[in-house]
Amino acid sequence: MSSSLVQSESGNPKRPVAPFRRHEPGTQPDYLYPAYRATRLRAPSQPLILLPQTLSEVTGRVFGHSSVHPNDRDLTLQHASEPLGERIIVRGRVVDGDGHALSNSLIEIWQANAAGRYAHAKDNHAAPLDPNFTGTGRTLTDNDGFYSFVTIKPGAYPWRNHDNAWRPAHIHFSLFGPAFVTRLITQMYFPGDPLFAYDPILQSIPDERARERLVSKFDLETTKPEWALGYRFDIVLRGREATPFER
Ligand SMILES: [Fe+2]
Repeated sequence: MSSSLVQSESGNPKRPVAPFRRHEPGTQPDYLYPAYRATRLRAPSQPLILLPQTLSEVTGRVFGHSSVHPNDRDLTLQHASEPLGERIIVRGRVVDGDGHALSNSLIEIWQANAAGRYAHAKDNHAAPLDPNFTGTGRTLTDNDGFYSFVTIKPGAYPWRNHDNAWRPAHIHFSLFGPAFVTRLITQMYFPGDPLFAYDPILQSIPDERARERLVSKFDLETTKPEWALGYRFDIVLRGREATPFER
């Protein structure tokens, strides 16, 4: 794949721009995974066409962060009282495929409450809503790529994909990264969940090690005495094909 050139203000080529790597085979969910019923309808029925990455996809910022408030990262402080459930801290580091920290990068999360219910009009699971829990948060990574959230451990919930179908407890993550092609939407799971083997969404990722990377690790270092258990969830966004020299 060839590199593009960024134009300087004078119109002269300034520096080469390397495209981003494609995903490793087996590390992403299959488009069609019949056990995950919705994929039967939305999977492409024609062969995919590989599009070249162009300048607009590999450069430039992808979001405005001026409105991210420091308290957006604590989902237990968004209402009059604390939500019910097990308070937890989720902490991790965001790096690219070369291990470089991604700083000032937007992370958004959303999740069900402790009873396994989303604060959403379409969720009619027979579990209680919590007036003190919306279940959405966001933050920016620091200079070393670290982020953390304070939240409530979400409950498992039924989802009618098949008979007696329950999703393992999970937190949805969205990351923008440095460019449009690094956008990642994924789910973080909790260690030792007995529902993993029965979940077609997790199992739709063919590579076992890739599935394991979606499971957070209990982290005593993040755990705060007398207050909350800590879980570590590191994230790798795709890196460049060629790493530019640093001057
Ligand atoms: Fe969910």
